[in-house]
Amino acid sequence: MATLALPKDQRFADDCSRAQIEFCNVTKLYGSVAAVRALSLTVSSGEFLTILGPSGSGKTTTLMLLAGFESPNEGDIRIAGRSVASVPSYRRDQGIVFQSYALFPHLTVRRNLEFPLEMRGMKVGERTKRVDQILERVHLSGFDGRMPSQLSGGQQQRVALARALIADPPILLLDEPLGALDRNLREQMQGEIKSLHKEFGITTVCVTHDQEEALTLSDRVVVMRAGRIEQVDTPEALYDRPATRFVATFLGEANILENSTFDVESGPIPSAGAVAMIRPERIRIGPSTGAKRVDSEERQSVSGTVNDMIYAGAVRKYQVCVGNDVLVVREHVASGKPTFLPGSEVRLDWLRSDIRFVTP
Ligand SMILES: Nc1ncnc2c1ncn2[C@@H]1O[C@H](COP(=O)(O)OP(=O)(O)OP(=O)(O)O)[C@@H](O)[C@H]1O
Ligand SMILES: [Mg+2]
Repeated sequence: MATLALPKDQRFADDCSRAQIEFCNVTKLYGSVAAVRALSLTVSSGEFLTILGPSGSGKTTTLMLLAGFESPNEGDIRIAGRSVASVPSYRRDQGIVFQSYALFPHLTVRRNLEFPLEMRGMKVGERTKRVDQILERVHLSGFDGRMPSQLSGGQQQRVALARALIADPPILLLDEPLGALDRNLREQMQGEIKSLHKEFGITTVCVTHDQEEALTLSDRVVVMRAGRIEQVDTPEALYDRPATRFVATFLGEANILENSTFDVESGPIPSAGAVAMIRPERIRIGPSTGAKRVDSEERQSVSGTVNDMIYAGAVRKYQVCVGNDVLVVREHVASGKPTFLPGSEVRLDWLRSDIRFVTP
C-alpha cells in the first residue's frame, strides 16, 4: 500500500517511519493519585507491545500520554529519539483506536474514513481510492454508505481500525480495541489485527485486560499494577517464568506452594522470600493405586483427594486437597484417560524442573 506521508513541514520527525518509542521515568498524577509512576519502557520499531493489567492500573493513561492527550508531570516521552513534550497530539502522526471506538455518528462510513485524509489535504479522487482500498482490507466493501448506527459492533470496530490505519501512520495505538465483541468475533478480529500488523509493520501499542489476547497478539507484554510496571517480557517468558506472585496469578492460574505440608524439593531457593509456584497443566494426576508413581530425581509426587472436578470442553480441571492445600490441576481431555470424581484418592506428580519461584 502506498505511503501517505504528511507534507514535510507538518511532520515532526522525518524518520518517524522507523519509530521507536521511549518512556523515560514518566509519572502522571491526577490530584493525589499517581495513575502512572516512574514508568520507563522502550518500544522497538515494528514491535507489537501490549499493556496488560487490572482495571485502574494505568493502561489507558499510559496510552493517553503517548498519544499526547495528557502530559506527564515528570519524565519524558521520545519518539524516534526526539522528545514529544511540545508536540501536540494531532502532529504525532499516530493511528488511534480508543477504548470506545468513537466513530462520528452523524457521518457515513466513507466520510468517517475520509476525515484523516482530508486533514492531510489529500485530493478527492485519491481519497476515494484509498477508502475503497482500506474497506476491502477490513472486509467492508459496499458498507461505505452506511451510518455507524447501521453497523454491528464488530463492523464498527473494523471501521475504527480502518480509520486508524488509513493514513498509514508509523505508530498505532489501540485501547481495548476488541472490548465490545463476543468471543468468536474477538478471535476473528485478533487474527485480523495480527495480519494487518504483519503486513504494515506498524509499531503498535495495545492496551487490554484480556490475557489471552495479550499472549496471542504481542511480541512483548507489559504487566502493569497500580501505575507501575511489574514485568516486561515475551508472552512465553512471562507465562513460563513470571517474576512475581502478582504476574503468576494475573496471567493464567498458579498454584502457590507457600504453606504446603509437603516440602517442595527443587533445589535452592533463588532469592530470600521467594515462594514456589507451579502451573496447573504441569501437574499430572493419576490413581493412588495401580501403576505406582514414586519420587525420582526428576519427579516429585504427593497423595491427595479430589475435591472438585470441572469439565470445560477441551480440559478437565481438578481441585485436589493435599494436606491443607488445594492444588488446581488442568488436564487435557483425551480418550482412555480416567476421570476422577470428587472423593477419589489420587496421586499427583510433577517435574521438579517445572517448579518456579516468584517474589511476593
Ligand atoms: N481524568 C482523570 N482524573 C482523575 N483520575 C483519573 C483520570 N483518569 C484516570 N484516573 C485514575 O487513574 C488511574 C488509572 O486509570 P486508567 O484509566 O489509566 O486505568 P486503566 O488501567 O486503563 O483501567 P481500565 O482497565 O478500567 O480501563 C485510576 O485510578 C483512575 O481512577
Ligand atoms: Mg482503560
